[in-house]
Amino acid sequence: MAKKVAILTGGGDCPGLNAVIRAVTLKLTRAGYEMVGVRGGWRGLMENDYMPLDIKSISGILHRGGTILGTSRTNPMKTEGGVELLVDNLRQKEIWATIAIGGDDTLGVANQLHGKYALNMVGVPKTIDNDLSGTDYTFGFDTAVQIATENIDRLHTTAESHDRVIVVEIMGRHTGWITIMAGIAGGADVILIPEYDISVEETCDIIRRRQSGDKSFSIVAVSEGAKLVTREGEEQMVTQSDEVDAFGNVKLGGVASLLAKEIERRTGFETRATVLGHIQRGGTPTAHDRILATRYGAKAAEMVQNEEFGLMAALQGDAIVAVPLQVAVGERKVVRQEFWDLAQTFFA
Ligand code: F6P
Repeated sequence: MAKKVAILTGGGDCPGLNAVIRAVTLKLTRAGYEMVGVRGGWRGLMENDYMPLDIKSISGILHRGGTILGTSRTNPMKTEGGVELLVDNLRQKEIWATIAIGGDDTLGVANQLHGKYALNMVGVPKTIDNDLSGTDYTFGFDTAVQIATENIDRLHTTAESHDRVIVVEIMGRHTGWITIMAGIAGGADVILIPEYDISVEETCDIIRRRQSGDKSFSIVAVSEGAKLVTREGEEQMVTQSDEVDAFGNVKLGGVASLLAKEIERRTGFETRATVLGHIQRGGTPTAHDRILATRYGAKAAEMVQNEEFGLMAALQGDAIVAVPLQVAVGERKVVRQEFWDLAQTFFA
């Protein structure tokens, strides 16, 4: 009888998920395994919500954003009896191995299910935030950077026409990877990210210096997770509410609007705020992300075939390798000093 392999996508969606599903399904189906798609991440395993996956069902999905399986932020570890139910369901349905495509939350669960319950788990690193350790890049990140850069380009022309400062808020949760890369690529005049503090006063000074020269507009790129810091050392992380999700994540958002008000109040320059939001996660993946996701999918399939569990496919240099899930979820990967130094070179 063919061994059954389940595949799920958890956490926030991102471009390239379907490319992974396609690569895994193609390779494993051809190798004689039976593929099962789990709907809605870990929720689907708790509720036995599956869809069959075969060569036909993955046709035409390579370039499509989102995930054909659906996703959720359900955490079985935080659901009463959730893990027991999930383990029972896997046994009853005779699912031999599970491939979890996700960020630190989803892969954290996979790591625990492997370590504590001896389940056969393989991980694939997904997130636009690029904050997973053990891999140089996650897929989805390149697309998000591309989208944010295109939007910064667009904001330039309107800011210039109106002699305005525009503050653009970019996703990334507690790391500034998307903001710093898109800020450098898009030529932002000030960049604020969670990893390195730059005060509101300093931000205003940079804008003043720039606008006292031959420029009458400025673009400020700010990460949603960047703290508003004053010279006196006051700090504020801006959230939409006090709510947290099942993994303890706060809902970030609103920093651009606060910063824009402060810039206008302190400098007198007309200032607007733009929030890119989920635009950064939607739509078709870049060619780079399609290739990276396909390579990850092929590696995950190979790991299942070789019975290498408790591991995640990862990019190191130009090689796709396997690293322990524990490494991936152990420590948040933050923006390196080298990128921060580079970004600062271009502040006025
Ligand atoms: O982790 C990906 C991400 O897009 C973050 O950058 C952002 O903070 C968060 O998810 C938004 O989550 P949601 O889609 O639940 O609003």
